[in-house]
Amino acid sequence: MSVFVVSKSPALSGNVKISGAKNGALPILAASILTDEECVISSVPPLKDVFVMIDILKKLGADIDYDEKKEKVTVCCKNIGTWEEDSDDASKLRASFIIMGPLLARMKKARIPLPGGCQIGSRPVDLHLKGFQAMGATIEQKMGFISAKTKKLIGDTIYLDFPSVGATENIMMAAALASGVTVIENAAAEPEICDLAKFLCKMGAKVTGAGTDTIKIEGSEKLKGAKHKVIPDRIEAGTFMVASAITGGDIILENVISEHLKPVTAKLAESNVLIEELEGNKMRVAANEKLKPINIKTMPFPGFPTDMQSQFMSLSAVISGTSIITETVFENRFIYAGELRRMGADIKIDSRSAVIEGVKKLTGTQVRATDLRGGAALILSALAAEGETEISDIYHIERGYCNIEKKFESLGAFIKKI
Ligand code: EPZ
Repeated sequence: MSVFVVSKSPALSGNVKISGAKNGALPILAASILTDEECVISSVPPLKDVFVMIDILKKLGADIDYDEKKEKVTVCCKNIGTWEEDSDDASKLRASFIIMGPLLARMKKARIPLPGGCQIGSRPVDLHLKGFQAMGATIEQKMGFISAKTKKLIGDTIYLDFPSVGATENIMMAAALASGVTVIENAAAEPEICDLAKFLCKMGAKVTGAGTDTIKIEGSEKLKGAKHKVIPDRIEAGTFMVASAITGGDIILENVISEHLKPVTAKLAESNVLIEELEGNKMRVAANEKLKPINIKTMPFPGFPTDMQSQFMSLSAVISGTSIITETVFENRFIYAGELRRMGADIKIDSRSAVIEGVKKLTGTQVRATDLRGGAALILSALAAEGETEISDIYHIERGYCNIEKKFESLGAFIKKI
């Protein structure tokens, strides 16, 4: 198995181009199921999760081609069948459940492996199912599979107990081909929701309110093919912003939408990091002042993103003073902290809150990535730690970051994949 070997690195400098958003590309690829016409989706990052989703669409019978160099997917779901495969791909990929809504809407039935939980939480799908049932689907859960079928989905008003990103996306896509109007109340408002809504509208769907807590979808008889460019990955961008901060660097991010990064920018600025929005979707991130401790509480967008929680824990671990991080979105998203402690971090965790006392230095050692963003956090700590850090189980990290070691190397980081 490959590992990352990371040594204490100088202040990062230079430019890094941010890729298309993983969590934007996945639902948009799933939405191509809603039409029998060709869709062309660009800025699709060559990530493990994307390859799994492409494979799932292929298994469904889609005609799909991924030009990795151009990061462009051409897909036509004219001849898809329903999901009969017991492929273990789906249970591996959390995001595969996102094909349930479009498949149910297009084929009137779907049978999908119940997505496994993962390291950060149990990942239930009750809100997704509540939406499908409200629209008239009958749901059956058996032998680790969820089956749904319907004569015709009928629009309804659905209140989400939690503004779930996946449930909002799944219900939006199902509603796009339902008859009548669907209103999602307490909907998620993440930028990826808005990007999916934009794609659905290009397909001819009538979606309004995306980005607010109430989204209205007027069902269409048929949807057409569309072309779309996926938004930049705000979490990859945030990860590099923290990398600049933790090394006292001065870098330029290219291909960012500053609007999507407001909660991250605000927190870094509070801690004395210099953030400058530049012409042409670029942003400068420089940390040449002494940084101040950080207090964070993760919340659904526009609150501070849970996907940036671990990266900020790494940063707090080396800022003198006391920082407090509260995780309100997932029930078990501090598991990586044990690995940071092995590097000398002073972190006390009490259920959903972590108290971090900044230490003078961290020390490199052997650590293991426990999950996607926790793994990214280990790279950040290793950039600042004395000596050398070997990170194993890096497949977690490569699910969500493409060529991360090359991008860090181009900024002057000492990182090798072996
Ligand atoms: C998406 O996951 C992202 N994944 C996650 O990113 C991200 O952390 C999360 O949204 C929150 O922003 C993708 O987009 C592929 P949720 P999702 O449904 O949709 C509970 C990463 O690092 N919940 O908003 O699964 C759930 O248990 C990944 O890229 C229910 O209770 O997140 C969790 O506590 C990690 N019932 C909370 O809501 C449901 O039916 C948020 O989950 C659904 C969710």
